[in-house]
Amino acid sequence: MTSTVEAITPPRARRWTRRFRVTQPSFAQRTWCVLRAWLQNPREVATVIPSSAQLMDCLANRQCIREAQTVIELGPGAGGTSANLLQQMPTKSRLLAIEKTEVFADALSEIPDSRFAYEIGDALNLKAIAHRHGIHRCDVVVSGIPFSNLPADVARQITQQIYELLDNTGVFLAYQVRDDVAKVAHPLFGTPRKQHVARNLPPLRVYSWTKVESGRGKGWQRRIDSA
Ligand SMILES: C[S@@+](CC[C@H](N)C(=O)[O-])C[C@H]1O[C@@H](n2cnc3c(N)ncnc32)[C@H](O)[C@@H]1O
Repeated sequence: MTSTVEAITPPRARRWTRRFRVTQPSFAQRTWCVLRAWLQNPREVATVIPSSAQLMDCLANRQCIREAQTVIELGPGAGGTSANLLQQMPTKSRLLAIEKTEVFADALSEIPDSRFAYEIGDALNLKAIAHRHGIHRCDVVVSGIPFSNLPADVARQITQQIYELLDNTGVFLAYQVRDDVAKVAHPLFGTPRKQHVARNLPPLRVYSWTKVESGRGKGWQRRIDSA
């Protein structure tokens, strides 16, 4: 199987349409928060600057988010990505964010949206945390956790749980600097679609997979996520 790398062109005007206005801390507040967290644990936090507007738009402004009933976000950091996802998600939907670094708790608690819940915890306990929130299946998992810095076995266990939680036709989105997530996810999800996001520090890629039941026993086949 071959993979494609797409450069992101400036979004068309309609793609900027916000469906909800979700208040969130300013970019400066989020940067300060991310910097404090990074000083405590650089490998885990993996960035000193919050996600750019272009990256957040690339993650949130897609059909699977606009139609999702349940989204799980791994590594929301100071919550910029979460607020952007909520802006696109339907009125009757829910977003559960799981963040390992406690420094981000205050910023996440400032997202005033009844559809939003967060837990300070490890993505390694993804299924247990989701079950505690009454979630047994979800439509989309969005992940910013640095797969490249995780021990291989931990990365495999997290990906396995993402796969098991996703519904048929569910979408897995991961924004990453390096390719390791594609390698670890390949046995379960196949080859990803890749979108290059240049306007982010550092520039990175958004990998996406759609889990599709083939209808032939245990086989699953990959389908390209319609953004
Ligand atoms: C690249 S940052 C995400 C940035 C954030 N979404 C934003 O918009 O600025 C990665 C985040 O993943 C979190 N993280 C790393 N390992 C994790 C794990 N095992 N479980 C949950 N969160 C984790 C880090 O604390 C950090 O907040």
